[in-house]
Amino acid sequence: MDVMAAANKLEAEGARVLHMEVGQPGMPVPDHVRVAAEDALASGKLGYTEARGMPILRNALIKHYAEHYGVDVADERIVVTTGSSAGFNLAFLAAFDPGDRVALTAPGYPAYRNILKALGLIPVEIEVGPETRWALTPEHIEKAHAEAPLKGVLVASPANPTGTMMTPEALKDLVEACEAKGIWFISDEIYHGLSYEVQEETALRFSQKAIIINSFSKYYCMTGWRIGWMILPEELVRPVERIAQSLYISAPQLSQIAAAAAFEVKDDLERVKAVYQENRAILLDGLAAAGFDEVMPVDGAFYAYVGVRKFSNDSLDFCKRMLEEISVASTPGADFDPAHGAGYMRFSFAGPTEDIREAMTRLKAWTANF
Ligand SMILES: Cc1ncc(COP(=O)(O)O)c(C=O)c1O
Repeated sequence: MDVMAAANKLEAEGARVLHMEVGQPGMPVPDHVRVAAEDALASGKLGYTEARGMPILRNALIKHYAEHYGVDVADERIVVTTGSSAGFNLAFLAAFDPGDRVALTAPGYPAYRNILKALGLIPVEIEVGPETRWALTPEHIEKAHAEAPLKGVLVASPANPTGTMMTPEALKDLVEACEAKGIWFISDEIYHGLSYEVQEETALRFSQKAIIINSFSKYYCMTGWRIGWMILPEELVRPVERIAQSLYISAPQLSQIAAAAAFEVKDDLERVKAVYQENRAILLDGLAAAGFDEVMPVDGAFYAYVGVRKFSNDSLDFCKRMLEEISVASTPGADFDPAHGAGYMRFSFAGPTEDIREAMTRLKAWTANF
């Protein structure tokens, strides 16, 4: 946030800042989705919906699981949420009690740990590295569980900030290891749809006990609509439904209507993905040319997490200087990994291709001075 504030200040002073810090799609929502929302708005009839979401959206989700993954989902297990962020809150509240331990990767998305702590739960951050492709393994879980019992494990694949993905086999092994130990497995599938190398798989295929959390924010370009969904094990549906009713009654109806329409614009969304694919290639070439030799495998999402130790021991300072000297905004690693993040930073390639290209040209000239 400090870097973003500094970037905004520079922009106000007239600099052309290239934004590679933002974790959201640069493209507008496809026309068909916008028009569906405009029609709903024009009707003037927007109200509460069922807490689990409107039937048109739940039906669209059932169809999506059948077509995209070949998995059958029962309507009764779907809960529509206000983004995946609400999904985490609901899942944690329904599945855990204060003091329960939940394992996460470090580096990882910082809100997981913040929400857990806010709810009186204990985040158990497990450092992951190249030997496991930055993913948790059954061995990690066994070790942490032996120290003190775990109640949950939360995994994202593709992950933020690394962009790395678990293979279907690695995911299966982890899901099954958790189920065997009676540990809730929470799968953050928000970056599904955005995979470039490894085939993506839903944890639902491997366990009916897995808690699936997903969102329209990333692949569907709908961050501002605040809309997402969960697929829950049967015993958690009613508790989650009741907590959701009390916390926010229902997700906004306007966003639910737009989200249902988002399943009808696959071609548009695939075109957006093709832009990310091009950006990714430009970024990876550009990082290599600028001398960054420690880049996590960018399997999916729209991030590259890179080591900066060659240039600096403090990525916060490095990112600040990059912004001040060449007007390229990026994210330092400390938020993602309090212990080792000072050696890393994240570039997002969700922005316009021309900006990524220009950023790489500036970066190469800049790092030549180090
Ligand atoms: C891994 C991950 N999960 C969840 C979220 C939250 O997304 P939303 O609440 O918009 O669905 C983000 C946002 O950047 C994220 O990176």
